[in-house]
Amino acid sequence: MKRTLGVCYYPEHWPREVWQDDAKRMASMGLTWVRIGEFAWGQLEKEEGKYDFSWLDDAIGILGREGLKIVLGTPTATPPRWMINKYPDMTAVDRNGQPRKFGSRRHYCFSHQGYREECRKIVAKIAERYGSNPHVSAWQTDNEYGCHDTTISYSGYARQEFRIWLKTRYGSIERLNEAWGNHFWSMAYSCFSEVDLPNLTVTEANPAHELAFRRFSSDQVVSFNAAQTEIIRRYSSAPITHNFMGRITDFDHFQVGKDLDFACWDSYPLGFLEDRISASETYKADFSNQGDCDFQAFHHDLYRSVGNGRWWVMEQQPGPVNWAPYNPSPLPGMVKLWSWEAFAHGAEVVSYFRWRQLPFAQEQLHSGLLRPDGEETEAVAEIASVIAELEMADQVQPAQAEVAIIFDYDSDYSWVTQPHGKGLNYFQLIFETYQTLRSLGLSIDFLPSDTEHMSTYKVVFVPGLVHMGDDLKQALFKSNAICVVGPRSAARIGDMEIPRPLPPDLIDFDCVVSKLESLRPNAPIALESGGYVTRYREWLETNEPILEKTVDGVPVLVGKDQIMYLAAMLDDETRKRLFKSILDRTDVDTIELPQGVRVRDTATERFWFNYNWTKQHIAGFTLDAASYKRELR
Ligand code: GAL
Repeated sequence: MKRTLGVCYYPEHWPREVWQDDAKRMASMGLTWVRIGEFAWGQLEKEEGKYDFSWLDDAIGILGREGLKIVLGTPTATPPRWMINKYPDMTAVDRNGQPRKFGSRRHYCFSHQGYREECRKIVAKIAERYGSNPHVSAWQTDNEYGCHDTTISYSGYARQEFRIWLKTRYGSIERLNEAWGNHFWSMAYSCFSEVDLPNLTVTEANPAHELAFRRFSSDQVVSFNAAQTEIIRRYSSAPITHNFMGRITDFDHFQVGKDLDFACWDSYPLGFLEDRISASETYKADFSNQGDCDFQAFHHDLYRSVGNGRWWVMEQQPGPVNWAPYNPSPLPGMVKLWSWEAFAHGAEVVSYFRWRQLPFAQEQLHSGLLRPDGEETEAVAEIASVIAELEMADQVQPAQAEVAIIFDYDSDYSWVTQPHGKGLNYFQLIFETYQTLRSLGLSIDFLPSDTEHMSTYKVVFVPGLVHMGDDLKQALFKSNAICVVGPRSAARIGDMEIPRPLPPDLIDFDCVVSKLESLRPNAPIALESGGYVTRYREWLETNEPILEKTVDGVPVLVGKDQIMYLAAMLDDETRKRLFKSILDRTDVDTIELPQGVRVRDTATERFWFNYNWTKQHIAGFTLDAASYKRELR
């Protein structure tokens, strides 16, 4: 497959006179794709029912005639002002009961039926008009579900829909009371219409209630998206995608992915380093102009799985952004490195955000490929060099990795519902598992929890998977992989209920979590063979071989052949030592990589990436600062 580049463009922001020239310049730069339209509802339907598609017809025609392929966005992330007049209560409501206001974007509640109807109308209009347009080669639904904390809404509409959802799930109120354990604190209900949303309670709501609401909220996103894909497919055979975000875990991307033809995500490495990663100040300073060397790769691998193998970067940072606490400029070389890293992980397309920096509104300090005056930014030369290299060698043959991690959005809701210790969260647990494996030179695949592909891996990690179904337990046992389960996996059944027999209750595995504790950050517990348990540990009653234990005699890693249980969170070095000892039981090759250097293997090549400011000497060669290298395996 030919790998190509694209750009995000907003013709509605610029005078019509520049469109032709913009299109020519995009094409002559060697860009293939242009994404448009995803915020243009206000220009397409200025007043209710008064549509104006003429400008979009022209824009599509101009771009298409220059040979550019168009990704057309549905504009449902930005309902126009008239709609708020029509439905003043359509915005989401925050945890404190405050409605969010008009004046930016994503000002809607997924449960508002009036809004859903408006969405169906505009999507049908657009799909009907452009469904067979030869230039419209892909579709994007909405924009970044969950962005700006918009998945969860405590509105009256959400409450109404939640009650319907509960009724469907439990059938009778008695069953709900039973499943939630509502005889605790006299919380039983006598009918579904008594069940409220789990905010503004005096102290914490029942975790079963909270988890049900999180699951419901995720389902609302899934059905909102499915309504759009279903309409688009009536009129078009072009593939449909949605642009997911980094570190958003509050809805099930795998479920949304089932209704898409491919996944894509928006990659802002410098913004993410400041905004979404917990790391020391020194580390952040060292990587402020390059980003974290695992964060992008993590999402490339995750969304490859969400897209069932097919994925793009829809928005790639090309220069400073405007929204993080600090907004540095990429080190020369990084735009190229990020682009190639995406291709090495299997991206079909890397598309930059955005064509030209806009002189007004919220994102006026966000760079683009062009400055506001139309001159090129430094990114353009790097992109030209990516294109030149793609012309010489655009083949990247993806290969399955040897090691996989199971990623489960439902577990994230369980951890949010019941972290059991300040700062404990599922994403962090999975991310540090991934970082450690990558620092050992591995390429990783993510698998959903309903995976059927476990057997083809050598090692599968299953940390923090709170509600583990019997199917997955069976699959773990049947697989040929070494499965490293825990901590806090298979810890609950149903709706946050502690199972009896006690967790993890893995078939044929003699191990019971008898107690657990969270630890203060400054109170780690030493292991007998060096290093520390940090933040969280479980106490095990087990007859399995004990491979690691703490100085106070509590097992940390147990198991013999194929199933192992890891009962604690660890500091980075110790995690690495333990993982290496597990990998050494297989024929998976590991290498000790220096900080900021990572590899990615394809079927035929090894890609090396150096995120450091400085040259790195490794494996007999030198990697320049902020550079990548590909070699045949
Ligand atoms: C993304 C979003 C874009 C733009 C960009 C700025 O999250 O999809 O519309 O806002 O961030 O970095």
